[in-house]
Amino acid sequence: MEEFRLQKFLAAAGVASRRASEVIIAEGRVWVNGKRVTDPAVKVTQKDRVTVDGKPVRIARTKVYIMMNKPLSVISSASDDRERKCVVDLVDMPDVRLFPVGRLDYDTSGLILLTNDGDFMQRITHPSFEIWKTYEAVVKGTPKESELKKLREGVELEDGMTLPAHADVVGYKGNNAIVEITIREGRNRQVRRMLEKINHPVIALKRTQLGGLNVGALKEGEWRNLKRADFEALFGRTEAKEYGYV
Ligand code: URA
Repeated sequence: MEEFRLQKFLAAAGVASRRASEVIIAEGRVWVNGKRVTDPAVKVTQKDRVTVDGKPVRIARTKVYIMMNKPLSVISSASDDRERKCVVDLVDMPDVRLFPVGRLDYDTSGLILLTNDGDFMQRITHPSFEIWKTYEAVVKGTPKESELKKLREGVELEDGMTLPAHADVVGYKGNNAIVEITIREGRNRQVRRMLEKINHPVIALKRTQLGGLNVGALKEGEWRNLKRADFEALFGRTEAKEYGYV
């Protein structure tokens, strides 16, 4: 039977990325067969009883990768203490411990990924991998070219300058413009704050794309498993191969 370092076991079970799993272990939150373990190198197999914060953890036999068009008024986490509906509740896979990859605001719709693979999660969310994220924002009024230029070059927010972005007006909805904006950071409410900064607050926000992966024809609330071409669109063909996704 395959043996795993405890840290890898937690990542493979979708508890957290490998790095974050190391912290969880060091914090003394992990028990193996009834004993607290703080060494991430301890070897475990699927037969061992591993718990995190008292909850059993196990590796699903297969890794699951899902793309979903998140509806509005659904929270992008695995659980909510205020009992609001969560993205994982929309996927009927009772035996799989799924986690959303990154976050979308409660009032943002669009493309979100879900997985039980901690390494995949890390590759999408870690800033060093620089996955570009594209949003379609209906904004108040119509930004001028000079205002879009500010978004492209970087605007000063309370948590610092934003990195260069792509921003264009791609359509209109009544008196309001639809701005397509692509960023490679993932700060809290970043797109809303950027557009607020140029005095065109967001009325509605949808994420359309992650890397080259488009939400496509999925309707709000719909989801599907990722296919080979989707991994290539996300990471590029070379990386997708190198990481073993295709
Ligand atoms: N930026 C936002 O403002 N909200 C999101 O949900 C994602 C990016």
